Formats: sequence, C-alpha cells, structure tokens
Amino acid sequence: MIDEERDERAPLGPGVPAETVLAELRRLRKLDRPTHGGRLFAYVYDPAVPGLDELAVAAYAESAHVNGLDPTAFPSLLAMENALVGAAARLLGGGPGSTAPDVVGSVTSGGTESLILAVKAARDAHPEIAAPRIVVPASAHAAFAKAAHYLRVALDPVPVSAETLRPAAADIAAAIGPETVLVVCSAPSYAHGVVDPVAEIAAVAAAAGVRCHVDACFGGWTLPWLRRLGAPVPPFDFAVPGVTSISVDLHKYAYAPKGVSVLLHRDAALRAPQYFAFADWPGYTMINPVIASTRSGGPIAAAYATLRHLGDDGYLRLAALTRDAVSGLADAVRGVDGLRLMAEPESTVVCFTSTDPELDLFVLVDELAARGWHTQPQLSYADLPASVHLTVTASVAPRVAEFGPDLLAAVAAARAAGPVRLPDELRALASTLTPEALTPDLVAGLAAGLGLGAVGAAGDGAGAGEASTSGTGPLPERMALVNALLDAAPPALRERLLVEFVGLLQRPTW
Ligand SMILES: Cc1ncc(COP(=O)(O)O)c(C=O)c1O
Repeated sequence: MIDEERDERAPLGPGVPAETVLAELRRLRKLDRPTHGGRLFAYVYDPAVPGLDELAVAAYAESAHVNGLDPTAFPSLLAMENALVGAAARLLGGGPGSTAPDVVGSVTSGGTESLILAVKAARDAHPEIAAPRIVVPASAHAAFAKAAHYLRVALDPVPVSAETLRPAAADIAAAIGPETVLVVCSAPSYAHGVVDPVAEIAAVAAAAGVRCHVDACFGGWTLPWLRRLGAPVPPFDFAVPGVTSISVDLHKYAYAPKGVSVLLHRDAALRAPQYFAFADWPGYTMINPVIASTRSGGPIAAAYATLRHLGDDGYLRLAALTRDAVSGLADAVRGVDGLRLMAEPESTVVCFTSTDPELDLFVLVDELAARGWHTQPQLSYADLPASVHLTVTASVAPRVAEFGPDLLAAVAAARAAGPVRLPDELRALASTLTPEALTPDLVAGLAAGLGLGAVGAAGDGAGAGEASTSGTGPLPERMALVNALLDAAPPALRERLLVEFVGLLQRPTW
C-alpha cells in the first residue's frame, strides 16, 4: 500500500525554531532521573558546586567542534590532553620526582574505552601469543569482559572471597599461564567499593613477567584525597612496583561532564602497542591512540576547565564531604535490623544486602524510589547475595539526614508488602529456559507481562511531544518483579533477556 503522506525527500520534516527544539528537549529531560540533588546513587557524579556546570558547559561549547583526530591541526586539544594526563599521573604516583617519572597516557571517552585499550596494548605487545588471555578478579568491571569479547582475548576470572569481596593474590598467581598478557585489579571495585590487594597482585604479575592494570576508573580520583584526609588507603598506584597501567575516569569523581577518562602507562614503550596506525590507503595516514578517530574537543575542554577550577583544595573538600556522606549512609544502614553492609565502606560506595528473607531488597529499592531515592539493585552472583549499591558523591552530604528515616520507612513498607512472589510459570521459565530458546514472541509476551513499554517520541508530530511529558518512561514504576525474574535466571539468560528487552525499546521513531 502506498502511503500518501510519505515523502522520502523530507525525512526530517520542516525545520523548527530553536526555542521549540529546546522546549522539546526539556520535556524529554523530565522523564529522566534527577541528575542533581543528591538522591541518585548511580550513573551521575554531582559535586553540587555552584557555577561548575555553567563553566563546564561554556568550556564544552568553546571546543565542541574541535577535532581530536589530528593533534597538529588543533594544538589546543593536545595541550589540554597533556595537562589532563599530567594531572592524573601526578595524582596517581607518577611524574617528575616519583618512582614512575616516565608515565605517559591518553585521554579516552570513558572507562570502558580505557580498559579496552589497556587490554589491546597488552595483547598487541605479544604478537607471538596466538591465544592471549587476561586474569581478572570476578569483581572486575564488566568492561574487561567486553574488551575480551571485542579483542578475542580469553577471560580467566578468579573468584573473590564472600567475606572480603577481594581475590587472593595466590589465586591470581595460580591463574597466570604462559598465554596471560594482562593481570587486572580494581581500586576500588564498582560493585562493592573495595580495593583489591594491588601490591600483592602486581607482585605476582611482575614475577610472571606479565603486565598489571589497576582499574581505578571509579576511585582513582577520590582515593588519593581520602588518603590525605587520613583514610587508610592501601598502596594502589604507580608507587607500587609491577603496576604497569592505571585507568581513571574524569567523568566520575573528577566531576567532569561525560566522555572523559585517562589511561596511563608506566612508560611510552608500554603504551606503544595501544596505537593504531594505517598509511596503506590513498587518504590521510591515520594515527589513533584511542578507539575513536574523530573526537570532539568538548568533553576534553570541559574536563580541563573542571579540574582547573576545582583544584586540589576543591577535590579535597569534596572528598571530605563524600567521606562524611558515606559514613552517614553506612550508619543509617547499620541501624536497620535485617540489613547488612556487604563491606565496611573504604571508598565512596555503600553496598548492603538483606539478612531477612521477609525483607526483599528489590521491593526495598522500589520503596526507596517511591520516596525519591534512586539506588541500584545488584543481582545475586555466585555465592554473593543480591545487594543494593549506592555510589556516593559530594552532593549527597546535605541529604544524609533525610536518608535514615526514609530508609526505615521504606524497610517497613517492604516488609509489609512482603517478598516478590514470582508466578510459578515465570520462576520455571527463569530456571529452565536456555538463551537459545527465547523466541521473539516469548520475549514480547514477557516484556508486556512485566510492563516494559516504549518511551514516547521526541518530535512534535501527532502529539508525541506530549506523550513524552506524561509517561514515566519505558520502565514500570515498580521493578521488583523484573529484578526478581532476572535474579532467578542464570547470567547467560539475564544477558539475553536484557538484550531483547533493550532491543524492544530501541526502535526508530516514525
Ligand atoms: C571500576 C570501573 N571500571 C570501569 C568502568 C566503566 O566506565 P564507563 O562507564 O565510563 O565506561 C566503571 C564504571 O562504573 C567502573 O566503576
């Protein structure tokens, strides 16, 4: 059938005034979780410093159209990148006067890219190894699994202790083989916020002649200041012999807008295999230190401005606020019967689990959300129970006093509601279904049954702009059922179900 309205020559519709577009964006943004205000404990890092957003946005705008593809064409970007790398290196035990004076690095788009590149550099340093492998604690960030997948490197996960949530260096040593090109540890881990025994792990890696990467994406910009404030932070940076590379994300605790991480190597020879170079075509010779080729200067300039503005004193003050917020939140958790901290907080994470079968964590997460606190549920894994993760930033400090009473109220409501009872057929499905057996019909039926829908369109056609203001987004208000289903499924089925669900959401707007 031919659609009379369809006009392939005008797929975008007529241009609309700037104000209309911005109004559309603002309506869409109302769907989102609150990025400011200290009540969102994942995804965003908010220092609540007056004027900082405006500064970062102005800096972003200044360099948004600059292209990081060629540092000789845009020396401003090169200068800013070198300054960011220098600052990160000095913060993390490198630079002049240190035991790692030759540290070099690159600015990447985020933690995942930094980790992929750390794995690539390690892999390509050993072209003679046909089937390279990396040894990672089971608690290492999922980005290492992504790196392994993308780069066709095998992953050797080492279990972590259910008590300490850390791997034993002896187990890491035992996992290292002749094909191991990289050993990994976290400072700290995302899920629980604990710092791995970096010195011991780096020592066993060095003894085996293998690189050791410290993933400090999450905590690299807080641990040094927490240490200066007196916290007992164990050695985790270039001061540790055997640490060959470190990643630290500026879009996390350096409080820069999204899109900036730094990957450091102890020296230029270690970094060399990270580069990609190609001259064998008729166009420009491509020399890329990172995955992207064309890169906006926006995030880099915004990070540069953020670091310059906050400075040492700013980060020290923000670390103190964060430390106090962490201790207040941890106290609130300790005060609740039926909740247990997964670990004593040693960085900027508060993570707790339930010790009471009648207190369902997934119901609790919903009850907290209903009270305006957005926490992150973590599914059970191996012998670790499901938990609730709180990434704590400086903006939380003024909210801590409100959290305790709300937590108590949410716990009481969760107990009153009782645990999620998965319908028998869903429980059976979760435990018996294999990922391969998932059909599109089954997925669509499951998604509909769980209340997973599609977000309203952004455009102004057919009232879609209105739809986007009124809905609550693509997820049901209460997620406990979805989380309970996922929790009952093994990891491979979780992955497949979520790929399918997210795929259902990511559909073009016509
Ligand atoms: C320890 C750690 N490594 C890596 C990453 C991945 O960072 P990104 O989301 O910026 O890719 C994260 C993100 O939370 C992290 O916490």
